[in-house]
Formats: sequence, C-alpha cells, structure tokens
Amino acid sequence: MDVRRVLCCGLSCLLVFKVLIFLTVAAVTVTLITLLTQAITYPYPTVPSQDPPYLIGVGRADCTGPPADIPLMGYAVPQQTAAGIHTRLFSRAFIVDDGHKRVVFITADIGMVSQRLRLEVLKALQVKYGTLYRQDNVVLSGTHTHGGPAGYFQYTLFIITSKGYVKPAVKALVDGIVQSVDRAHRSIRPGRIYMSQGTLEDSSLNRSPQSYLNNPQKERDRYETNTDKQVVVLRLTDLDGDGVGMLSWFAVHAVSMNYTNQMISSDNMGYAAYLLEQDKNRGSLPGKGPFVAGFSSSNLGDVSPNTRGPVCANTGLPCDYLNSSCPIGGTKMCQAYGPGEDMFESTRLIGHNIYKKAKELYGKADWEVTGFLHAAHQWVNMTDVTVQINSTHTARTCKPALGHSFAAGTTDGGGDLNFTQGAVEGDPFWDGIRNALVGEPSNETQECHRPKPILFSTGEMSWPVPWHPEIVDVQIITIGSVAVVAVPGEMTTMSGRRIREAIKQELDSGSSFEDTTVVIAGLSNTYTHYITTYEEYQIQRYEGASTIYGPHTLGAYLQKYTNLARAIAQGTESELQRGPEPPYFAKLPNLLPAAPVDKKPVNSSFGQVLEQVLPVYRVGDVVSVTFVAGNPRHSGDIRDKTFVTVEVFQNTSSSWEVVHTDASWETRFHWVKGSNRESNATVEWHIPASAQQGSYRIQHFGHYKKMVGFRPLITAYQGSSDVFAVSHTYYY
Ligand SMILES: *[C@@H]1O[C@H](CO)[C@@H](O)[C@H](O)[C@H]1NC(C)=O
Ligand SMILES: *[C@@H]1O[C@H](CO)[C@@H](O)[C@H](O)[C@H]1NC(C)=O
Ligand SMILES: *[C@@H]1O[C@H](CO)[C@@H](O)[C@H](O)[C@H]1NC(C)=O
Ligand SMILES: *[C@@H]1O[C@H](CO)[C@@H](O)[C@H](O)[C@H]1NC(C)=O
Ligand SMILES: *[C@@H]1O[C@H](CO)[C@@H](O)[C@H](O)[C@H]1NC(C)=O
Ligand SMILES: *[C@@H]1O[C@H](CO)[C@@H](O)[C@H](O)[C@H]1NC(C)=O
Ligand SMILES: *[C@@H]1O[C@H](CO)[C@@H](O)[C@H](O)[C@H]1NC(C)=O
Ligand SMILES: *[C@@H]1O[C@H](CO)[C@@H](O)[C@H](O)[C@H]1NC(C)=O
Ligand SMILES: *[C@@H]1O[C@H](CO)[C@@H](O)[C@H](O)[C@H]1NC(C)=O
Repeated sequence: MDVRRVLCCGLSCLLVFKVLIFLTVAAVTVTLITLLTQAITYPYPTVPSQDPPYLIGVGRADCTGPPADIPLMGYAVPQQTAAGIHTRLFSRAFIVDDGHKRVVFITADIGMVSQRLRLEVLKALQVKYGTLYRQDNVVLSGTHTHGGPAGYFQYTLFIITSKGYVKPAVKALVDGIVQSVDRAHRSIRPGRIYMSQGTLEDSSLNRSPQSYLNNPQKERDRYETNTDKQVVVLRLTDLDGDGVGMLSWFAVHAVSMNYTNQMISSDNMGYAAYLLEQDKNRGSLPGKGPFVAGFSSSNLGDVSPNTRGPVCANTGLPCDYLNSSCPIGGTKMCQAYGPGEDMFESTRLIGHNIYKKAKELYGKADWEVTGFLHAAHQWVNMTDVTVQINSTHTARTCKPALGHSFAAGTTDGGGDLNFTQGAVEGDPFWDGIRNALVGEPSNETQECHRPKPILFSTGEMSWPVPWHPEIVDVQIITIGSVAVVAVPGEMTTMSGRRIREAIKQELDSGSSFEDTTVVIAGLSNTYTHYITTYEEYQIQRYEGASTIYGPHTLGAYLQKYTNLARAIAQGTESELQRGPEPPYFAKLPNLLPAAPVDKKPVNSSFGQVLEQVLPVYRVGDVVSVTFVAGNPRHSGDIRDKTFVTVEVFQNTSSSWEVVHTDASWETRFHWVKGSNRESNATVEWHIPASAQQGSYRIQHFGHYKKMVGFRPLITAYQGSSDVFAVSHTYYY
C-alpha cells in the first residue's frame, strides 16, 4: 500500500469534497436567489415563458366633451341634456405587436362609436402615423354609457336626437381617442399577455325574456341562463411580470344611471374601470397614472343592469309581461331598477361587482396568450346581402327601418307616447301622422321587414342626408388564440352566442389556432342599433323592432364574420375585398345655437359663493356649495382640466393639496341653468370613509362670456368655499 498515494488521495479527495461542497452551496444559493427574485419579479408564471414576447402599449386620455346643453346619447329623451359632471369619460387604447403585425383595441366611455367618429379618428391617425393605424387593425368600441354628450353622428336620425352635428362634442372625442393611442404608442415595450375567464352573477338581467324564449328549445337547453355571465380578462404585463394594463369584456347595458340624470357619467362600466385604475395607480387622481383598465361592452342587446327588474313605478305592481306596459301610465311607468335604492347606488353596486370580478380574474390569469396577430376587415352594404337559409332557400337583408316597438323604448327607459313593445301590427293613428310627415314605407320594404310594422322607413329617407347607414364595418382581430369580434351594434345574448360559436369553429379549423376564445366587442365602429336572432325578431320587442336590416340581419352577419374568420384561419386576410367605402357627408346641420352671454345676480361676481358650506362635516356627509357660474360650454376644450377641486390643507407644507377633481366618483358638479341666462354651479362632495381629518375647501373653475362692443369676450373665473373641517369624531 502506498501511503503517499493514500494520503495524497485522501488530501485530494478532501479538496475535491470541499470544492464540491462549495459548488453545491453556491449552486443552491444561486438557485435560491433566482427563485426569490423570480418570486418577487415574476409573481404569476413560475416558469419563464419560452415564447417570444409581444410589444405592448397602453394609454388613457380624457375624452369628456362639453358638459352643458348637448343631449346625452342613449335614451333619446329631449329633456336629458348635459348639465354638469359626475364622472369623466376616458378613451383607453391597447396596442399589441408581434413583430410583424400590429392591432389596436380602443374602448371609450361613450354610448357607441359612430361611423363619423371612426372616420374622423382614422383620418387623424393617418395624418400622424401614415399607414400604421388603419381601418383593418384598429377597433373602436364604446362602453355604451348613456351619460356622454351626443352630436357625433352623420345620419339624420341621430342628428335629430343630438341637436345636430356638434363640432365641440366631436372634437373632444376625436382628440381624446387619438391621444389615448398616442400614449399607448409611446409606451410600447416588450411584454406578455395572460388570460382568464369566470362568471359574474347578480349583475345582469334579460329585459326581453319572451323574445329569448322564442329561440329553439334545443338551442336554449345548451345554456343555463338567458344572459351571458362570462367575464374574459386579459392581463398585460411587461417582461418583469409587472402589470401594465387589463382588458375585459362583459355583457351588460351601461344604463344604471337612468334618463333623469343630466350629469356626464361613465356609468357602471366606467366606474369599474375607475376602481381598478385607482387600485393600481395608488395616490393618483382619477384618470391619471400608468395602469390602464379597459372594460369593454359585449353582446348586451337584451341585457339590463337593473337587477330588481321592471315594476310599475306608480302602483308597485308587476308590468304586463308581454308588452311591458302598466295599466295606468302605460309603457313609461314600467321601469326597471335596482340593485340599489337610487341610480347612483345601483351604478356603484353593479360597477363594483364588475370591478371585483375582473380584479379576481386578473390576479388568476396565468394562461399565456401566444402566437401571431391577425386583423381582418371589410365594409359591407348591409342592405344588399343574400343570406343562405338552408340548402335550397336564400333570403335578403332589407333597407333600414325601425318598427313601432322602437318608439316604446325599454324597461330601462320607456317612450313618452302610447307605443308598446311586441307590436306586430301598426297603429293607424301614428302611421297616418308618419305618412304626412315623412312618407309611407314602400311595399317592398314593408314586405322585407315582415312581421315588423314599420314606423320609420329610414332606408327610404335621405333628406338632408340618409337617415341610417347602409355601409357598415365588419372586423375581427386576433391575438394568438383570442379573437375579438367588432360588432357594429348591440347583439342580443343569443345572437352573440351564435356569432362566437361560428367564428370559433372556423378559426379552430385553422392550423395556428387552438381552442380559440372569441369575445364580442359591442358598439364598435358604426352604430346600427340592434341585432336579434331571426326567432327573437318575430316577437318584435324593442330589440327586434330596432334590428334595422330586417329578420335576416344576424344571418347576414354570420356569413360575413365567418368569411373573415376563414380568411384569418387561412392567413389570407389581405386578399379580402375591401368592400364599398362608407360615405362622408361634408355638410351637416348644427341645431345647437352658440351658448349665449352669461348674466349674474346684481352685486355678485362669477365664482362668488351663493350658498356656503357648513363649518364641520363628518365622514358620510355631503358637503354642498353653490357658486355664481358661467355656461361650461364657454370653457372650450375641457379635457384634462377640472371644474371642481376638493382640497385639504397640509400642515407639513402649509399648502392646499387637491384630493378630488370633477372626475372623482365622490364629487358631483351640477350646472343649474336659470331662465334669465344666470346659472349656478352646485358642487357636492360625498365624503368617503377614507377621507383624513383636517381642513378642507372646495374650488370651482369656469369661464363666462360677455360682449365687448360687438365682440364676445371669454374670461376665466374661480371661486372658493369657506374652509371647513372634516372630523372623524361623532358628537351627540
Ligand atoms: C298590454 O297587454 C295587455 C294584455 O296582456 C293588455 O290588456 C293591455 O291593453 C296592453 N297594453 C297596451 C298599452 O297595449
Ligand atoms: C331614476 O332614478 C331616480 C333615483 O335615483 C328615481 O327617483 C327615478 O324614479 C328613476 N327614474 C326612472 C325613469 O327610472
Ligand atoms: C347598397 O346596395 C343597394 C342595393 O343594391 C344599392 O341600391 C345602394 O346604392 C348601395 N349603397 C351604397 C352606399 O353603395
Ligand atoms: C328551407 O327554408 C325554407 C324557408 O324557411 C323552408 O320553406 C324549406 O322547407 C327549407 N328547406 C329545407 C330543405 O330545410
Ligand atoms: C294611441 O293614441 C292615439 C291618439 O290618442 C289613438 O288614436 C291610438 O289608438 C292609440 N294607440 C294605442 C295602441 O293605444
Ligand atoms: C302597396 O300596394 C298596394 C296594393 O298593391 C297599393 O295600393 C299601394 O299603393 C302600395 N303602396 C305603396 C307605398 O307603394
Ligand atoms: C348693490 O351695491 C350697491 C353699492 O354697495 C348698493 O347701493 C345697492 O343697493 C346694491 N344692490 C343690491 C340689489 O343689493
Ligand atoms: C342660484 O342659487 C341661488 C341661491 O340658492 C338661488 O336663489 C338662485 O335662484 C339660483 N339660480 C339659479 C339659476 O338656479
Ligand atoms: C392639521 O392640524 C390640525 C390641528 O393640529 C389637525 O386637526 C388636522 O388633522 C391636521 N391636518 C392634517 C391634514 O394633517
């Protein structure tokens, strides 16, 4: 035995052993550090993705238009003109790029995207970005709030209810939407997208269940509910796994605020976005901060948020099930409400439900969306589509027309006259008036729309410009195996299901798609009212009466969207025919006179307090202060400004700090117009539980107009309340 060798071996073994231990310890340490940093910076996926990242950009911009005099878009109630602000309206843009292609999804807090608005936005984007953002890769969708200014339409029906084509209203929307794209564009960086889905209960109700019941039993049996409850969420992150944005779809009408509201409001969907953004952008004022949360509309055609359902407001008795009418007061009295005691509480509750579910799904989203992007778009003449019904028969779409039940409205806001829902026969009285005013529908159009009794044959009315669009956009964008279907109107629950199913089938047959998730983005690109199924159409409730291209409207869309999906699946979307371009009517009437000069009470000044605050308030109280005001239309472009601040005195810096603006849920800016050109601004602050104790003041900012000789002069003013205290102590 060679001692030297043993010793030597022993020594080297020891050395090797020590080195091994060192290496092991080092490796474990490195692994631990890696795991720890991963746990910190990659909170969601534990395994770093192998797929190439996307380029992702998100952006938000204020698109609030003039908060005075302009009708609010949605209920078509002439008295419902803007008079202040509850919450501001924002456009939210999401850009995704796979290195080859780019798609943009925009959801804006507006009733719907109109054809004119889309044309103006695309024109502005072209000026700035050339061919980067186009009609095929940009989707514009509205949340369907009924609390935004109207006036951005180019077809006569909407021009009448909007008091014309109102340029300041259009400008605020175009500038806001384009700015949201600018911000998203500038924020583009590599990132990832994760998806999750869930269901949201107790936040929606079918408002035309009798129409839904007319769908085939076999089809209905496949679904548990008569509205879609699913929420689809996309979580957008940077490469460190930090969330930069969220995009979600849920089908419910944004009509928690009813037609008695006159303050600009983003309603339940806007409030959900507000809550999630406030969560993620801690310490930022509303509408500020980098995280962008988009809550998009979907197939909400027959879906109400007023979950206690309809009841006769005057008697408390149930409405007639078939025609949603009350024995006394008719259609107007049959009103759906809830879940809150008033519309503000209902908006808060529904908005909070949507926010909570989206937040939960956002936290859970771990299914990574990967794969290429696609965008397919066509313009379609919807009055001219041949629909294959079965192997032997075809049918055709019709020139646009609205049925009698259109004038009845819905249980979310009924019409003033004696129309009822479900009318399959005309009313000689109203038909006579209609014939005298705008002419009789042609026999051909009447025949085409059967069983709809036509009230307005809008496709046969073209003065001063056509009353309804003929050319509409159909569009699908896909991000990996997520397909977003941009629908130019309000699809009912079952219409949406049929569309989603057909598109999924088509895409899944393509080699690059697997178990595609299809979402409907409603109120997109062009507004064409409703899209019911053929069966629902037969019942002629409001939604059927408002399906303007006739009973085969959905059948036509099924063909068109299937066609787009097939092109995407085969990668041939660039070969799709563009279709006929929509018209652009250069001259449109403005029926809203310029805002007149402002008057003020004698011996007062603009901004002066007329009704002062109290010295002390407690959490939960409502502070109210009234100022001498000017017409808010004189403030011009109000985007990113505020009519209101709530300020707290900071002892440490001896300065006033703004804690709320007019975009805040807690503030209400009421503009009260007098008959004598005098007006008041009454500002309310509903003190939230989170308010700190201290000294506060409320300020109001505005502009007034006076004449200097023959020239109008606009002057800025501001006013401040007395200082008041917010106390957490209760004195009894
Ligand atoms: C609604 O239908 C009921 C019967 O279901 C009928 O008595 C009532 O007159 C109808 N209301 C109107 C306004 O047509
Ligand atoms: C609107 O909501 C208010 C409560 O906020 C309520 O008093 C009013 O009756 C509602 N009107 C309609 C038509 O639903
Ligand atoms: C749409 O099609 C109809 C029927 O073919 C035609 O009369 C009409 O001119 C077309 N509309 C446009 C804007 O091309
Ligand atoms: C096709 O549809 C028409 C019209 O609804 C119907 O009359 C006909 O029986 C159908 N034919 C087949 C083969 O289903
Ligand atoms: C609606 O009112 C008009 C005028 O009072 C009347 O002639 C007509 O019959 C009414 N229609 C219905 C359906 O009650
Ligand atoms: C519709 O047809 C009827 C009967 O053929 C005819 O008397 C009537 O004038 C036609 N109406 C229109 C608007 O063409
Ligand atoms: C306005 O102020 C002037 C001067 O202070 C005073 O004489 C006059 O009475 C006041 N008028 C009213 C209506 O208060
Ligand atoms: C403004 O408020 C004052 C004080 O409450 C009131 O007397 C006046 O009528 C209001 N003016 C308008 C236009 O509402
Ligand atoms: C400022 O100081 C006062 C008096 O000490 C106190 O009551 C109040 O809470 C303080 N305010 C803030 C915002 O810290």
